[in-house]
Amino acid sequence: MFIELLRSRRSIRRFQEKPIEPEKRALLEEAALRSPSSRDLNPWEFIFIDDRETLEKLSRSKPHGAGFLQKAALAVCVIADPEKCDIWIEDCSIASVFIHLAAHSMGLGSCWIQIRKRAYNGSNSSESYVRGVLGVPEKYTVLSLVAVGYPAEHPEGHPQTGLPCDKLFINRYGSTKK
Ligand SMILES: Cc1cc2nc3c(=O)[nH]c(=O)nc-3n(C[C@H](O)[C@H](O)[C@H](O)COP(=O)(O)O)c2cc1C
Repeated sequence: MFIELLRSRRSIRRFQEKPIEPEKRALLEEAALRSPSSRDLNPWEFIFIDDRETLEKLSRSKPHGAGFLQKAALAVCVIADPEKCDIWIEDCSIASVFIHLAAHSMGLGSCWIQIRKRAYNGSNSSESYVRGVLGVPEKYTVLSLVAVGYPAEHPEGHPQTGLPCDKLFINRYGSTKK
């Protein structure tokens, strides 16, 4: 059941020093390319990175929240040509989540690293830094890097009792009557 996958899903930031098998990597590639997009315009493109030196550079994309990429087996950079579709952010977000869930379904851990609207330092954006590291042409925007690898931490899924049920309404905002 898909709900069991969601129940056990967590963001993973600590990884084993173990490479991802080519078959699993191929499934991650397929999952990314099967992401739905508005009007089927597919504005996204993906860069799969397993080169250690490049992963190390990407781990410095922003001062906080990316350092764990240094130990990841793989990063998937999700980019888009915003000229292709006005709602590329939604399309790229869905693709990032597809990669995250596909990884979990195969016993891999992963974590979204936000790049869009983040700063590399006082004068440069994380986007322009990542574009520079990966040789991405200027016309593309960079939404995220998804770090993937075999997990070295195993946090529990969020408990049923902890779900924010106060955010759920029936028929009308504020109504909880069934
Ligand atoms: C849009 C988005 C951006 C995120 N950016 C980062 C990030 O830059 N660095 C990071 O370590 N985690 C990032 N995360 C992971 C969240 O911190 C994580 O999903 C949240 O704390 C809930 O934890 P869980 O995924 O284990 O349930 C991001 C998640 C989302 C959905």
